[in-house]
Amino acid sequence: MSTQGNRTRPDRVTTQTVVEMKHSGEKISMLTAYDYTMAGIVDASGVDVILVGDSASNVMAGFETTVPMTLEHMIYHTSCVVRAAERALVIADLPFMSYQVTIKEALINAGRMMKEAGAHAVKLEGGKFIADTVKRLVDAGIPVMGHLGLTPQSIYKFGTYKVRAKEEEEADNLLRDAQLLEEAGAFSVVLEKIPAELAGKVTKQLSVPTIGIGAGPHCDGQVLVLHDMLGLNKGFSPRFLRRYADLHSQMCSAVKHYIEDVKSGDFPNDKEQY
Ligand code: KIV
Repeated sequence: MSTQGNRTRPDRVTTQTVVEMKHSGEKISMLTAYDYTMAGIVDASGVDVILVGDSASNVMAGFETTVPMTLEHMIYHTSCVVRAAERALVIADLPFMSYQVTIKEALINAGRMMKEAGAHAVKLEGGKFIADTVKRLVDAGIPVMGHLGLTPQSIYKFGTYKVRAKEEEEADNLLRDAQLLEEAGAFSVVLEKIPAELAGKVTKQLSVPTIGIGAGPHCDGQVLVLHDMLGLNKGFSPRFLRRYADLHSQMCSAVKHYIEDVKSGDFPNDKEQY
């Protein structure tokens, strides 16, 4: 149960709810959102978790990678989403270099994300290297979601967005990292673009839920970037993406129709004026 002002929302999804969902076998649905209107639609549709991903860098700001995203950008997007989300758990990505330098900086920045933006939890990329940071955040009362496999903030280290952990050594490291994150107190772990069998092993090994993106069906939940699953991004078609709408075409056709009506003088008509 969470509180807003002095009112309690008994139906609010919490970090405890998603852990319970793993144990009861109910799959967890997670989608990204970055603004008030979209977050309202996603929340009203009943999604369990809204992730204010730093994929905002790509889909909202038009950057090539997530690296340029700042804490101020993420606080802005998160506060817009929090104002719309009445039921979903809202998790915010901490952006690149806002939690890697020192534990103290991570505490201050995650604290700002909770206090200024109203996030219910934060997500951090990485394993062993950030396990101590995760523990300190959790000890301070900040719930943490981990993120392993393809970690886009490290794109310049890896050089590609290809599937990760196909080889035994990297797979073993990932299993170890997942265990370390759970021991540090993470309430959940995102697994991005890794073989389905490995994701299944991690999911079995952990008592906290895994949320997959391009990680197969054995995860406890799934996440997609909202703009991708709605078909707003024409140019992004990885194998794992299922498109549930073709909003790019629908929006283009609506906008073209509007332009035609303006040019022809059909809009506004008699009823559309004062
Ligand atoms: O930033 C993001 O949208 C993410 C998801 C792809 C998991 O981290």
